[in-house]
Amino acid sequence: MELTALRWRDDRLELLDQRLLPAETRWLTLQTAAEVAAAIHDMVVRGAPAIGISAAYGVVLAAQELGNTASADQLAPAVSTLAASRPTAVNLFWALERMQRTMAGLHGAALIEALTREALRIHEDDRAMNHRLASFGVPLLPENGRIYTHCNTGALATGGHGTALGVLRSAWAAGRIRGVIAGETRPWMQGSRLTSWELMQDGVPVTLVADSSAGHLMQRGEVQAVIVGADRITANGDTANKIGTYALAVLARHHGIPFYVAAPLSTIDPALASGDSIVIEERDGNEIRCIQGKPIAPAEVPVFNPAFDVTPGELITAIITEHGVIRHPGTDTMAAHLATVNDD
Ligand code: MRU
Repeated sequence: MELTALRWRDDRLELLDQRLLPAETRWLTLQTAAEVAAAIHDMVVRGAPAIGISAAYGVVLAAQELGNTASADQLAPAVSTLAASRPTAVNLFWALERMQRTMAGLHGAALIEALTREALRIHEDDRAMNHRLASFGVPLLPENGRIYTHCNTGALATGGHGTALGVLRSAWAAGRIRGVIAGETRPWMQGSRLTSWELMQDGVPVTLVADSSAGHLMQRGEVQAVIVGADRITANGDTANKIGTYALAVLARHHGIPFYVAAPLSTIDPALASGDSIVIEERDGNEIRCIQGKPIAPAEVPVFNPAFDVTPGELITAIITEHGVIRHPGTDTMAAHLATVNDD
């Protein structure tokens, strides 16, 4: 059975608490939109697509709370609360807009029913899209290569299968790659806690490394490609992703190694011309000062903790979506890809 981090059961949202993995598997049941917003902010659920899916279910919970009085106007505060949970991943706003479009002209029970259908569709579509995306990504990877990845872009971060990790899963199943190198992804440790755990469950050979060893590995010829996910891709192909991604792209360029981004179309934000306009979330300094609550730095040391960085499109070999491959991402190639999507 495919690993999942989100379930809609008995009109409630169930989330696998990702803060506790891999030590503990604990499911939380959420009953209100405010609880969903807090779970997104506190990283119970994380990863751009999973955040969007959770927010969609959050709107359903808000409508259920309102019952017969549910309407677009009454739901506006809940939508705002969900939108304020995290700023960088555009999938959150994309999902909320889809839910808002669904509200048009509906009230009460009919509205709740339509919103539930839409949230389930967003969830199921994401899982199906990841499998399609993987089919475009696998042939790009160097045969028998060892592929470096960053953060967690797997089933835990999406509706299922994963984006970059979905490509790697499928590539291993197809006998295309030799194995995966996962950077631990300081400070939240998505690579060590989540990615290595996911891959080991599937029997995909994975070696966990400190983020700082990426250059050394590339210099020694141990890495044949890098593949990562994305939180927001702008009209010119600039890509916001987990902090540390930009450094990997620079290293890959220096060593002549292909650098791929795998993301669904819902991660593309054509309204932003370039990465300069992306809001980069800054998180609590204690994420750096402590590891699992244990201090590893002076309590008062000033900390700068951006959760994401922006990789210029020119450093990306190709962006892989569920609709195909965008080689040499830039304003023209991105627009051409989106035009073919709209034609279909
Ligand atoms: O802070 P996180 O864990 O939500 O960051 C996640 C990432 O940066 C992922 O690479 C991105 O959301 C893509 S997940 C398919």
